[in-house]
Amino acid sequence: LDNGVARTPPMGWLHWERFLCGTDCAAEPDRCRAAVHRDGRRDGRGGLEGSGLRVRLHRRLLDGAHAGRAGPAAGGPPAFPQRYPCTGGLQGLKLGIYSDVGNTTCAGFPGSYGHYELDAQTFASWGVDLLKFDGCNADSLELLAEGYRNMSLALNKTGRPIVYSCEWPFYLRPMQQPNYTEIKQYCNHWRNFYDVYDSWNSIKSIMEWTALHQDSIVKIAGPGGWNDPDMLVIGNFGLSWEQAVTQMAMWAIMAAPLFMSNDLRHMKPEAKWLLQNKEVIAINQDPLGKQGYRITKDKNFELWERPLSDRAYAVAVLNQQEIGGPQNFTFSLTFLGNGLACNPACCIQQILPTSRDWGVHNWVSSLSVEVNPTGTVLLKLVPL
Ligand code: DGJ
Repeated sequence: LDNGVARTPPMGWLHWERFLCGTDCAAEPDRCRAAVHRDGRRDGRGGLEGSGLRVRLHRRLLDGAHAGRAGPAAGGPPAFPQRYPCTGGLQGLKLGIYSDVGNTTCAGFPGSYGHYELDAQTFASWGVDLLKFDGCNADSLELLAEGYRNMSLALNKTGRPIVYSCEWPFYLRPMQQPNYTEIKQYCNHWRNFYDVYDSWNSIKSIMEWTALHQDSIVKIAGPGGWNDPDMLVIGNFGLSWEQAVTQMAMWAIMAAPLFMSNDLRHMKPEAKWLLQNKEVIAINQDPLGKQGYRITKDKNFELWERPLSDRAYAVAVLNQQEIGGPQNFTFSLTFLGNGLACNPACCIQQILPTSRDWGVHNWVSSLSVEVNPTGTVLLKLVPL
């Protein structure tokens, strides 16, 4: 969507995976505090200052629990203040909100159907910077498509640049092949696949789906429009250290929107380190805006690359074996960038799981990379 925003994948925090519908401040004050309370600002920044955090936290997105609707016959504007009494505390952060194409959201709160313009105007008047628009309860495929298009036009009409996050292809795909050219024309990013869960199985299935569909989805991604493999669950309960590294590395390779869904007040230092890693974020935010893809799958190993600006490449070596210890994967640099990634020579830097200088290599060199089970080694190749 050419609306001036999301020129690189948007970043921020989104409460859904970690907090689900628990944003009723009266009933669940602690969860509310984590998600929307004014303390969220202090808690969010406490201990997380520094590299990229202002960027990482620039948008808080409330998901799944639309406000309810005020006024006669429920035709009035969405009632933000009743459900989110504490948003006076969001100073300095950008605000994302959630609604749905249909009459009701997936969780049964009022959706935007029949009120797209009113809702867009209301969100703009609240200073909303991102709308996540879910696709539950659309009565037909036509209404689904029309709803996504009309809300995009309604947001545009407000004159406020609002990032428009869609789930259009996800809801369409079981019945119909999505038309990604059209989707990119209306949306800034779009979900293709099931919700992320706090588990390795979920991360694996998202990566595999992406690789299997890369021929149709990678080429469409670029400034203003991104494939969205869903939230980062790093800092929660379900991923080992290696798996958290894999999620961070692969979301950078996939040019994914980076929305953390975690409790910013309770995170291990290593999770914070990973989420704030400037080199990984720089790969994710690379201005060329090309999404990466899988080059090969060789037994338990996967090799992925992402072309970066200034002829550089990001390369991920992922070890899918879930038995045994670290294993080596040896590959020729001629595999990368169709032989051009390190041609005639390049500097190789390891970014994850630890930073390490691999020195200068030439295009016929081979690399042997040791990778822990379910882990990923992320490299950056800079041409000489
Ligand atoms: C389905 C979406 O895919 C999730 O990300 C979340 O928004 C839930 N709906 C909310 O009910």
